[in-house]
This record gives sequence, C-alpha cells and structure tokens, in this order.
Amino acid sequence: MSDRIDLAAFPHDFLWGTATAAYQIEGAVAEDGRAPSIWDTFSHTPGKVAGNDNGDVACDHYHRWREDISLMRELGTNAYRLSIAWPRVLPAGDGPVNPKGLAFYDELIDGLLEAGITPSITLYHWDLPQALQDRGGWPERDTALAFADYAAVVAERLGDRVTHWATLNEPLCSAWIGHLEGRMAPGLTDLTAAVRASYHLLLGHGLAVGAIRAAAPSAQVGLVTNLSTVHPATDRDEDVQAARRMDGHVNRWWLDPVHGRGFPSDMREVYGVELPEQQDDLATIEAPLDWLGLNYYMPATVANAPSAPAPHVRSVRRLGVPRTGMDWEVDPTGIETLLLRLTDEYGARRLYVTENGSAYPDVVRSDGRVDDPERRHYLERHLAACASAARKGAPLAGYFAWSLLDNFEWAYGYDKRFGLVHVDYRTQVRTIKGTGYRYADIIREHRGRVRHAA
Ligand code: FCB
Repeated sequence: MSDRIDLAAFPHDFLWGTATAAYQIEGAVAEDGRAPSIWDTFSHTPGKVAGNDNGDVACDHYHRWREDISLMRELGTNAYRLSIAWPRVLPAGDGPVNPKGLAFYDELIDGLLEAGITPSITLYHWDLPQALQDRGGWPERDTALAFADYAAVVAERLGDRVTHWATLNEPLCSAWIGHLEGRMAPGLTDLTAAVRASYHLLLGHGLAVGAIRAAAPSAQVGLVTNLSTVHPATDRDEDVQAARRMDGHVNRWWLDPVHGRGFPSDMREVYGVELPEQQDDLATIEAPLDWLGLNYYMPATVANAPSAPAPHVRSVRRLGVPRTGMDWEVDPTGIETLLLRLTDEYGARRLYVTENGSAYPDVVRSDGRVDDPERRHYLERHLAACASAARKGAPLAGYFAWSLLDNFEWAYGYDKRFGLVHVDYRTQVRTIKGTGYRYADIIREHRGRVRHAA
C-alpha cells in the first residue's frame, strides 16, 4: 500500500474534522448544575485511573471553548465531533432539565457555526449520570428509556442548527470494558450485567434514533462503533475459531442487530446469557441509519483461551510491528479493510471515520514547538488507507482526527497524548503540534483540488 494520500478520492464536500468527548476535555464538573457521572465516581476511586487523575479540570474547555474554536479554524477543519454531557443537561438522568447545561452547548454550537464548522453531536460518550447508575445503569431497561428522553431534550434544543447526530460512542467499550473487564466506569466484571448492558445500549440507540428524528426532522442520525480487524494467532483451527468469536464480540454483536440481522446466534451461545428481549425491540434497534461511524485504532490478534472469560480468547503480541505510545499496533490496512467490509457486507450508504489517531510521548522543544513525526506518519498512512478504500467504493464522507486536544485518556489519565494540539495542563497553554500543521496542509491541498476542479 502506498503512503501517498490520493486526495482526489475524497468527495468535494468531505468533512475534515477533529473529535473530542465531554468528560475528556470540559472540566467544570461541579459548575452550573452539572451532577456527577459514572466517570466522576470511577476516576475518584483510588487506583482506577493512572496517576489517580480525573476530569475535574481536564482541558478547561468549559471556559476556554472560544479559544478552542480558534484552534479549529487555524487547523482549517470544517467539522467538529463533540459529545454532550448528559449529567449537565439532566443532572438526575431523567426529570428536570438544567437550563444552564443546555445553554452551554447552545452557545458552543453557535460559536462553531459562526466559524464555519459543522458540529457533529454524540449524545453518549460514556458519562452516564451517576443517579442512573445508582438505579442499576445500562443493565436495566429504564436507562435505555431515559436515554431516549434525554436525546429528545437535546435534539429539541439544538436540532434547528445541528444536522449531524450520533447516539452512542463505542457501545462495545461501555458494555465490555465497563461491565465485563472492569477497566472503565462503572468498573464491573460481570458477564450477565455486560450482556444486558450491551442489549440496552442498542435498544437505547434505536429509541434515540426515533426521538431525534421526531424532534429534528432534518437530522442525519448515525451510530459510532469501534471495530477491529481480527487475526488468528496461528492457522490452527482452535485459533481460527477464537478469531471468529473475537470478531463476533467486537464487530458482529454490534453491527448485525442494527443492520436487521438480529444478535448473532453463535455469540448468544458463547455468552450463554439470556437477553432481556421484549417484543418489537429488534424493530427499534434496526431503525435505518443515515450513516455509520468507524473509530479505528488497531487490529487484534488472538489465540484460543478456554479458561478466559467470554469470548475465551487471549491477545497475542505480534513481534516486529510498530506500536504507538499506547502499545497499540500500527496497521493502516485495518481501516481500509473495515471501511470496505461496512460497504460490502453491511451495505453502508454513508461512512465517516469518527475517530482515528495515536498517542506518543510529546516533548515541547525549547523553541516552543512540538515535533511529532510518528503521529504525523500515523495520520498520513491512515488517510492514505482511507483514500484507497474510497477509491474502491467505500462511501466515505468525512474523517475526524482523534483528538483536537491532548485530554483525559480515561483509565490512562493525562499521560497519553492524542491531540493535534498539545495542552500544558499546568498553564492550559495550547500549542499546535507538527501533526496539526500537517493536517492543515492536507486539508488545504484537498480544498485547492476542489476549487481547481470546479
Ligand atoms: C476511543 C474513545 C475516545 C478516546 C480514544 C483514544 O476508544 O472513544 O474517547 O479515548 O479511544
């Protein structure tokens, strides 16, 4: 695969964006009526997050959003994927709306539009109001119903100006990492809770699709999934079967139900947990979507591990391959494979790469610059792979770099930096990194081609 980015493969109205999530950047966790989320609870539980970091201040975006919009302008991006903090808008999860919470996003959206930047809203990027967790959280059906009500509140307020909507970010992480592996909030290790959570997340998604469309008829609604290419560690049958289970766990369990195929029967057997199904749920879950979002970071290589929890696999470290500062394998072919799989196997009509990026330990040089050639190379190679997928027919309509800013990287705390813009957490000074300038060049070049072709 060539590293040259075939920019002509991207449509003229391609969205060039950056992405963030509320809890990772906003800070101001106790301001203007926001109540705690499961991530406040989790990060304030000693030992859960590296360095016992938390999102109390984060990038202080709640107060510095105007500056952050200026940074987007400097990068030349024309889109921005942000998430809304449910506990700002509905502090108790349901019940009374907090007007100040909604007002914050109202102003932010106006600011983006004034800057010529298309907002793409994600309603749930993992910050469940703690009050709902106290009533059982995602393993309970009521949480899905509350999510739809929350979606309606936000869509009613912002739907006159926002057309791009996503329901959930990476339900896989909420269900599997939050309820099965315990490495993310709410930190459970309970297969039954995890499977029930996965079901109610998808139900909540389907209900929210309807709620958004009812409140904002011009809304373009999608779902953001994180998918992986999966390779067996050896060609032994047991490892090939393990890879099939892993594919079911991370990819098919999420894609099949929303594409009208129901929950994969092989995985139902692997989990052995009864789904809390009710009549008509599937029809809700498979509501046709306007687009699908792919978050891609790395591939998975697995071997059979019968004694490991479902899906009974263990990750195998491939040797001799480049890795990021997260120790994640760099494999741009994966993004192309997945975009084409979504196109060919699932009939995707519009796709966005809603996240892609890399963390490396950045150093601010004495002249104040941040030079990050490895991240730049990661960006270039993945964009080249996206263009190649587009050439082969993937209906790719935009790319959102993760992330605009260095931010609170969940259980990894502030140590892992994914930003196109460096943040000094002591002073909150922002510095565009070399990769940010390179992204700006790529965007400019694409625009130049569009103008030229016109
Ligand atoms: C994704 C998350 C995002 C960020 C990146 C690195 O799984 O959606 O918030 O943490 O990983």
